[in-house]
Amino acid sequence: MDLSVDIAGIKLKSPIISSSSIDGMDGERIGLVSEFNLGAATTKTIVKDMQTDVLPNMKMVRGGSMINCVFGTNLTADQWFNEEFPKARKAGIPIIANMAGTTPEEAVELARGCEAAGASFIEYPTACPHMGNILEAMYPGLKMPLPEVNDPREYARQIEAVKKAVKIPVIAKFSAIFHLNCKTWARAVVDAGADAISAADSIGPVIGINIEDGQPILGGPKGYGGLTGAALKPLVLRMVLEITEEVDVPVIGIGGVASGEDAAEYIMAGASAVALSSSSIRNGYEVYADVYDGLAAFMKRKGYNSLADFRGLTHTRIRERAEQGKQILREYVYPQRNKNRCTACGNCVMACAYGAIEMGESKPEFITEKCHGCGMCASVCSTQSIDHNYYPV
Ligand SMILES: Cc1cc2nc3c(=O)[nH]c(=O)nc-3n(C[C@H](O)[C@H](O)[C@H](O)COP(=O)(O)O)c2cc1C
Repeated sequence: MDLSVDIAGIKLKSPIISSSSIDGMDGERIGLVSEFNLGAATTKTIVKDMQTDVLPNMKMVRGGSMINCVFGTNLTADQWFNEEFPKARKAGIPIIANMAGTTPEEAVELARGCEAAGASFIEYPTACPHMGNILEAMYPGLKMPLPEVNDPREYARQIEAVKKAVKIPVIAKFSAIFHLNCKTWARAVVDAGADAISAADSIGPVIGINIEDGQPILGGPKGYGGLTGAALKPLVLRMVLEITEEVDVPVIGIGGVASGEDAAEYIMAGASAVALSSSSIRNGYEVYADVYDGLAAFMKRKGYNSLADFRGLTHTRIRERAEQGKQILREYVYPQRNKNRCTACGNCVMACAYGAIEMGESKPEFITEKCHGCGMCASVCSTQSIDHNYYPV
């Protein structure tokens, strides 16, 4: 079985990437995480001058998601070029230099520096939803509105300038705040020369509140941050689907990847590879290898020999819905249950909003007359013993 992937002419031995975050804080950390079956590692956003974080800046919120208001790397660009890239390169995997300039000229200068220091790709981020709020408080008088979500032209111009300045591939990294217009953004950056797209950075601004004292749980003027992790995944999956409907360049899916199944969903939506951050911060670097192993196990179970065997499968399924007149189904399909596998955990009883499942003497009983065919019970079943399929293949 082959899990390798080609991104803009560079072969990655694994489709699992550490995304731009704490695991790309310096060369030593990149060396550490590279041991866990990574295909490539991304640096934290490299900026010209050192960034000092606002504190506190990382918190878990319900459901395995995170909010953060972390800035770029805490190192200067020169430190990266002279000390960290040489260490990172020893990992022996392609290094994606995520970098941002305060002006297009500075971005060009940084991109050249990263290329000369041995980066295999440049990744150029769009916007962190929390950044403006903090910078405006740091520098009174500064105005940093969120970027115009309907107009990708300025960002595309910067991509074009960076692309012209280097020979290595350039990846445009979208924030999830562009989710409604991701096709327009994708077209604009590809026309500007981007070799690949990564989606997405966090969505926000968001806030969490400590109900003991009413304080926002993050630091900064209002405690605003960006939301990442599990809650982000369904939104970014849809972005990846739409981006790959619009353009042909490879897409790296980022948002809430914590298992091989998550990675498989992204590949089916059309992604070439996945990257992750929050699940590694929360559960340790082993998660990278777990995602790789889980993806390999999934492929074995399904008889897939390569990622290409199922990349974009969801595009096909969506097309089939139209071709077969199955875009809108209204006839109930009732769930079928394998009683032998059911352990009577009661999840389906609790989750049935229509009162159509009651706990019987030893196993839940399904009351067909009350069932609305919604599908909820199968999605909460702890033993996958409920079969509920509107689209049999
Ligand atoms: C603590 C933290 C710091 C991050 N720093 C950066 C950064 O410097 N540059 C960047 O482009 N994205 C940054 N990100 C965004 C991640 O690379 C990623 O796009 C996002 O977290 C979604 O993936 P996840 O759900 O796997 O965390 C950061 C995310 C977190 C949680």
